[in-house]
Amino acid sequence: MAFTEVKKLYPSFLTFDDAMALDKETATALQLKHNNKNRTELALQLGASGVIAKAEGCYLWDTDGNKHLDFVGSVGVYCLGINNPFLNNNIKKYLDSKPLTMDPLMVHQTTAAFSHNMSLVTPGLTRTVVCGGGGMEANETAIKMVKIAAHRTKKGKTRLLGTLNAFHGKSSATVNLAGKPKWRQWQGEDLPGYSWVPYGDLAAVEAELAKGDVIAFFAETIQGEGGIVVPPEDYFPAVRKLCDKYDTYLVLDEVQAGSCRTGHIWAWQHYKDFQPDAFTFAKGISGGVLPLGGCQATDDLYMAAYGSNDSCFHHTATYQDNQISGALALSSLQFMIENNVAEHIRSEGAYLHGRLNELKEKYPNVIKEVRGRGYMIGVKYGANAKGEYYTIPICATLSGKHRVHTMFSINDETICRAYPNYTTTREDFEWFLSGLEDSIKEVVAQMGE
Ligand SMILES: Cc1ncc(COP(=O)(O)O)c(C=O)c1O
Repeated sequence: MAFTEVKKLYPSFLTFDDAMALDKETATALQLKHNNKNRTELALQLGASGVIAKAEGCYLWDTDGNKHLDFVGSVGVYCLGINNPFLNNNIKKYLDSKPLTMDPLMVHQTTAAFSHNMSLVTPGLTRTVVCGGGGMEANETAIKMVKIAAHRTKKGKTRLLGTLNAFHGKSSATVNLAGKPKWRQWQGEDLPGYSWVPYGDLAAVEAELAKGDVIAFFAETIQGEGGIVVPPEDYFPAVRKLCDKYDTYLVLDEVQAGSCRTGHIWAWQHYKDFQPDAFTFAKGISGGVLPLGGCQATDDLYMAAYGSNDSCFHHTATYQDNQISGALALSSLQFMIENNVAEHIRSEGAYLHGRLNELKEKYPNVIKEVRGRGYMIGVKYGANAKGEYYTIPICATLSGKHRVHTMFSINDETICRAYPNYTTTREDFEWFLSGLEDSIKEVVAQMGE
């Protein structure tokens, strides 16, 4: 076949090299024209400051040469540091050795090995689905799994119970599971078979489970988009008992809280003698190198769903159990374990919470609460006399003036999230804290008390 240089056919075609060298103005114009225009405009208003030339550890450099401190990690993805060398090198090694195929007739050694490793970390949950997408696909996987299993083992049960103000992704099933009307308002009528209870309200869970028709109770181990909501300490252990009593599966969404973010490899490991029937993961387990998600389940649950020839094809996908994702997830897990990332985040997280609480004491009308666990931190802001919240202006000043990136919660705009990563040092904490204090002073001076 004759080779024709692409620019001869499409003169304005941007090659890989062109794309890598795009300047800020051109890239912004292309994004405004071809991608999500309104979202891009909002990001620009919030201080989105250009194209990333390089990113490493907890820093980003834009094409103008400015250094930024990443305190949001693409919303909880970069727990192990951006461009973590161990992960990147393993993926390069993987590509160089050329086993890159997803042929379903071959056995997949990296996903099998990753799944084996996962079962060492969570011994009661020994079956893994590795998805090629993100958290939404992971949760779709769990929803489907419990429904198919229930069809066989929990006759007469038809409902999934979720929590209000949760976030599980934006596919059709996950917006229905998540109990936030805003994200499912476009669909006309809600899908049948989903109900919700307030997060952290045990009596409400029991009232629903006692009706006898609930297949599974789904919840985030700590609500992320809902505003970093940590439930009462006895909530999940008691929910576990209720699920056992009423023969209901317990499924935890660890997409945001998992992968060491809260100071445990899986956030539910905070609780002693406790395990869900399944949990979902994404974000942090891929180290931000590739999209990747999955679901870890007990053998009983998984086999009830897929343990027969007629059901084993019910939830397949082209990129499921793909080797490169397996290689990456395996490498992340290895890095987490070998570097004791969870313990580091537990202790440094406690220090940072303490420092933020000092700021809260100093500015009690501005910072109302500091909450979360480990490096999953939510700062709740107050409002001025006109009822205008300080959250977004402080977030924008922090990024625009101090080049520290944080992010408000999409389901609670009074909360700003701080998600440092494993590589963040105490010096970086000072950058964040001094920028935050200056932003507080500036915003209060503008908006008034
Ligand atoms: C708890 C939780 N579940 C699911 C998702 C969806 O993940 P994704 O955006 O990768 O589809 C998110 C994303 O923020 C999340 O926080």
